[in-house]
Amino acid sequence: MGILYGMVARGLVVLAEFSSIAQTNANTVARQILDKIPRGNEDSNSSYSHDRYIFHVKRTDDLTVLCMADDSTGRRIPFEFLEDIHQRFVKTYGRAIHTSAPYAMNEEFSRIMSQQMDHFSNDPNADRLNRLQGEMSHVSLIASQSNGF
Ligand SMILES: *[C@@H]1O[C@H](CO)[C@@H](O)[C@H](O)[C@H]1NC(C)=O
Repeated sequence: MGILYGMVARGLVVLAEFSSIAQTNANTVARQILDKIPRGNEDSNSSYSHDRYIFHVKRTDDLTVLCMADDSTGRRIPFEFLEDIHQRFVKTYGRAIHTSAPYAMNEEFSRIMSQQMDHFSNDPNADRLNRLQGEMSHVSLIASQSNGF
C-alpha cells in the first residue's frame, strides 16, 4: 500500500494535503498530531502509530511535513518521501511559506504530493512485497479519483 496521505503545515496552519484513499480519517489524526508536536525551534523526526498505520513527521524550522503509511512500509521510504517533499516545497515557495494563508499551496502542491507518493510507494529499492503493495496503491488512487475525492 505504501504512503497513503501527505500534508505540509506551518505551525498549525495546513498549507497543502493529499490523500490517495477515499475513506480515511488521516486528515483528522494528522491535525491531532500537529497539536501534539512540541512548539519551539527543535527539529525532529518522529513516528506515531494509529491502528495499522504509522504517521511519520518531519519538522524543520516551523515547517512540518507529515505522511501516513501502512506499517509494513517501514520507516526508510516514508522519511525519504518527507525529505523529498520538504525540499520541493521550500524550493518552490521560498519565503512565501512564512506568510501564506491556509491551503494557499493546496491546489498545485497536492498534485506533486500525489505523484511523489506514487513514486516512493513504488520505490525500486523497496522489497518485492512493498512493490506489489505500491502497485495496489496505484489502483486505489485511480479508484478514489473516480469518487471525486
Ligand atoms: C532527521 O532526519 C534527517 C534525515 O532525513 C537528518 O538529516 C536529521 O539530522 C534528522 N533530524 C533530527 C533532529 O534527528
